[in-house]
Amino acid sequence: MIGTGIESDGERKQVTVLFADVKGSMDLAEQQDPEQWREIMQGFFAILADEVRRFEGTVDKFTGDGIMAIFGAPVAHEDHARRACYAALRMLDDISDYAAELRRRHGLNFSVRIGINSGEVVAGAIGAEGDSEYTAIGHTVGLAQRMEALAEPGKAYLTERAAELARGFFELEDLGEFEIKGASRPVRVFELAGVGSARSRLDLSRERGFSRFVGRDEEMATLDEALERAKAGEGAAVGIVAEPGIGESRLCHELAERARASGIEVFECQAQSHGREIPFMPVLQMLRSYFGIADNDPERIVREKIAGRALLLDPGFADDLPLLFDFLGVPDPDRPLPQLSAEARHRALRGVVCRLVRAPQRRDPIVTIVEDLHWIDEASEVLLGELLGSVDGTQTLAIVNFRPEYEAPWTGPPDYREISLEPLGQADTLELLHDLAGGDPSLDGLAKLVHARTAGNPFFIEEIVRALAESGYLEGERGAYRLARPVEDAGVPATVQTVLAARIDRLGPEAKRLLQAASVAGKEIGERALVLVGGLADREEGEETLRELIEAGFLYELELYPERVLAFRHPLTREVAYGSQLAEQRAATHAAVARATIELNPDRHDELAALIASHMEQGGEKLEAARWAARAAHWAGHSRPHDALRLWQTVTDLVDQLDQSEETDALGVSSRLLQLDYAWRLGMERQEVTRLEAEAAEIARRIGDLRSLALLQMLRYARPGLEQTTAEWIAGVAEARRLADEADDIHLRVAIRAAGSYAYLCAADFDRLERTADEVLELAAGDPGIGAGIIIGSPVAWALGAKAIVRRERGAFEECERFLERGLQIAEEQGDPETASWNRGTKSLLLAMRGDAEAGVAVGRRNCELTERLGDVFSRSLALGNLGAAQLAAEDYAGALDSFEEAERLHREAMEGGDELEAWRAAVRAQALIGLGRAEEAIELAAGAVEVARRRELFWSLPLTLLALGRARAAAGQDGAREALDEAAAVATATEGRTTLTAIEEEREALGAAAR
Ligand SMILES: Nc1ncnc2c1ncn2[C@@H]1O[C@H](COP(=O)(O)OP(=O)(O)OP(=O)(O)O)[C@@H](O)[C@H]1O
Ligand SMILES: [Mg+2]
Repeated sequence: MIGTGIESDGERKQVTVLFADVKGSMDLAEQQDPEQWREIMQGFFAILADEVRRFEGTVDKFTGDGIMAIFGAPVAHEDHARRACYAALRMLDDISDYAAELRRRHGLNFSVRIGINSGEVVAGAIGAEGDSEYTAIGHTVGLAQRMEALAEPGKAYLTERAAELARGFFELEDLGEFEIKGASRPVRVFELAGVGSARSRLDLSRERGFSRFVGRDEEMATLDEALERAKAGEGAAVGIVAEPGIGESRLCHELAERARASGIEVFECQAQSHGREIPFMPVLQMLRSYFGIADNDPERIVREKIAGRALLLDPGFADDLPLLFDFLGVPDPDRPLPQLSAEARHRALRGVVCRLVRAPQRRDPIVTIVEDLHWIDEASEVLLGELLGSVDGTQTLAIVNFRPEYEAPWTGPPDYREISLEPLGQADTLELLHDLAGGDPSLDGLAKLVHARTAGNPFFIEEIVRALAESGYLEGERGAYRLARPVEDAGVPATVQTVLAARIDRLGPEAKRLLQAASVAGKEIGERALVLVGGLADREEGEETLRELIEAGFLYELELYPERVLAFRHPLTREVAYGSQLAEQRAATHAAVARATIELNPDRHDELAALIASHMEQGGEKLEAARWAARAAHWAGHSRPHDALRLWQTVTDLVDQLDQSEETDALGVSSRLLQLDYAWRLGMERQEVTRLEAEAAEIARRIGDLRSLALLQMLRYARPGLEQTTAEWIAGVAEARRLADEADDIHLRVAIRAAGSYAYLCAADFDRLERTADEVLELAAGDPGIGAGIIIGSPVAWALGAKAIVRRERGAFEECERFLERGLQIAEEQGDPETASWNRGTKSLLLAMRGDAEAGVAVGRRNCELTERLGDVFSRSLALGNLGAAQLAAEDYAGALDSFEEAERLHREAMEGGDELEAWRAAVRAQALIGLGRAEEAIELAAGAVEVARRRELFWSLPLTLLALGRARAAAGQDGAREALDEAAAVATATEGRTTLTAIEEEREALGAAAR
């Protein structure tokens, strides 16, 4: 069992915290009898606590003269800030009534001050063991208290965080910024001035301006058809089911607009999240809209409207008027409602409403829309059931909507239909995004990101775009944004977070824990791993919990075979579930995920090593993390050098945080050496290189590790990319070879010989190159695995390539080809794309030299493509250089110049200082320039290259640079062409570079012919 073993006794939560305290005149209090005083204060507390409970908040504690309340914990409410604001408004009203009474009775002056803030807290049982209580702690709490201290008597103040969530639903007065003790930045403060005009999120959207309605053609068609049936007197009822923000309200709104446009009356109402405890709230709203009652209508007018419409429909309603008047809050003093029990009143009211719907005299069709049934109060729900049951055979279209978790107690009419609203598809998402953000090309990448994160939920799309604009990622205005800076971490907007957190909190504790465990694993997790990580006691129970998560739409079955894989339906849900856990719990789960991955995938450890390492690291298991990261780095090897370098960096960082041991020393030194091994391929800041060298040397010496010292010698003094003479280079290699021989490790001896032999090539010491290659082949004795991956991927493949090069230089082209083919084959068999790339480069040159330039270009081009995938600068630059040389031979000078310039650019961007191929690259570039008639530039370039090659004794490049210089001078009609060619010939002769010599001779002849 790999369960985390940690009980979640605390959670991070998004909540709203409210502080209220009563301020009395203390001097008067002094004169009060303590008992009476206590009674007065009890009265206050009762009022405050009542209002907190009415909106389903929790009284966290009674402070000396007030309370602290939390909305959104323990049970999350997506509208926690709104609930706090409603409670605050009612507290202010109630307390002001109570204070007036106290003033009258006792001559005391009292008032209440309220502070509200929203944000993240840690909520849970907190306190000494055995004496802990549920509470919330965090900066969010402190800031709420500060708001209270700041508030004027009789007022409620909100921070900007709370205001952001309450805006539109309430009237807020901006009081400006305040310096608040304990807050690092000034805080914008708002006064709660009253209830606002919005009742739902859709109202808010309407105020901001609706985005263009996209998609939903099929759903609209279904609704239209239902409307036609209602018009024909058949009556119809449709339910729309959707997750929050998917657009059920908007769909209803669009239908309502269509209906109104064709002259049909529409009556709407919605259940409110905080209204579950208040009977008939939606019914009241519906009747007000049915009778056309406006907010500021005088009572008499309201009664006239009710009576007028009801009696017109059916004079029989006369007897029901007192009931309707009373319910709508305008009782007629002349016709009071007889005393009735609440139950009897409810029944009577239901009867009236149904008769209003069914009234046979009604001639015009109507549409009624009841939204958000998941929040409906019981009394309204019973009424709704009766109403839905009575539409059959009338001209009414009744539409309701609700979230998937709602279980309807009613059955609806016989032809009741349900539409399940799915997220928007990719095309619709893009259209919506285009409408919100515009079509600026800088936004191209954003669409993908937004689509991936929101999974087609239009509310999330709108909120993410808004959040990006508010945090400065987007510039401009709605519908015409530009990307101001790249979006790395888009976060989860607070408005979206509350919705998702509330959904997660509605799950049972088991399901919630399982979801949190899954969120740690990532976007998806195999069932067996989930069982292990979730610490599920038995499969059956686990299966039930899983089913709950799938049915509630949190997870879905991504794959069923060979194993069931569960994936998060929504990426943001995963983020919220992940973020809701305390760091300690999360870490334990990460470690459990790592162990489950190891246990369940015995055959895939290499490929999963990086993932395991990352979970181990986040699980705080640093040594394990370092071991797995090292394994992953080895596996990435030379085929993914960037990944390998990054992983070795991780290993170094991890072991540096651990206590020293034999193992950490070994990992510490090898991870540094391997970083250095990638440094010459990928480029690295010189400072970083020096630091790594010093640190590796320190460890290797301290533990007397000869092997590492040999490698370090190689990487420090005898690797490609150093600015030194070939003599110095060769001396560096000799020392490394000596150390390797002393360490007596066959792999190391082979690896260092193979890698070191590159120095002989650059020095044009072809005999020594050949001898060393033979030595490598002999030591490896036919086993291509010997020395593999230590510095280069495949020493044997390289040795064959080196033998090929010697033959190419000496003009033995056929033998050259034979060695190359074998070298290429072994590199490929060894899964070593790097050495393969070098050998393929040699082949492209060989083909060009043999006179088949086109084939050389084709091989060179293919080589560039394959090498591009490696992403390593050394090999890509070399491959481009080889391609360019083949292009030169094919007389494609412009193409050649492009290749050489790109090779040069790659090098310059990644590497510091000159490298051993610098002179050669300049020489061939000069040749391309000559071909393009830019001889003057070529002279300058070639002259510089000659200088470099001479100074650094790069005898393989030197004759080529001289040849280029001679040709350039001749082309420009300048002196000194012959001298350059003579020197070139001398060097090539001395080094027995026959192929180069032939080229020089040809040039000398051409020059002579021109002179004659
Ligand atoms: N098809 C659509 N095209 C364009 N915008 C849409 C579409 N559907 C929804 N929206 C927008 O997305 C936002 C959320 O939609 P809506 O309020 O209808 O969601 P909902 O499912 O009713 O969510 P909830 O009731 O949970 O808040 C609104 O601003 C709405 O205008
Ligand atoms: Mg809605």
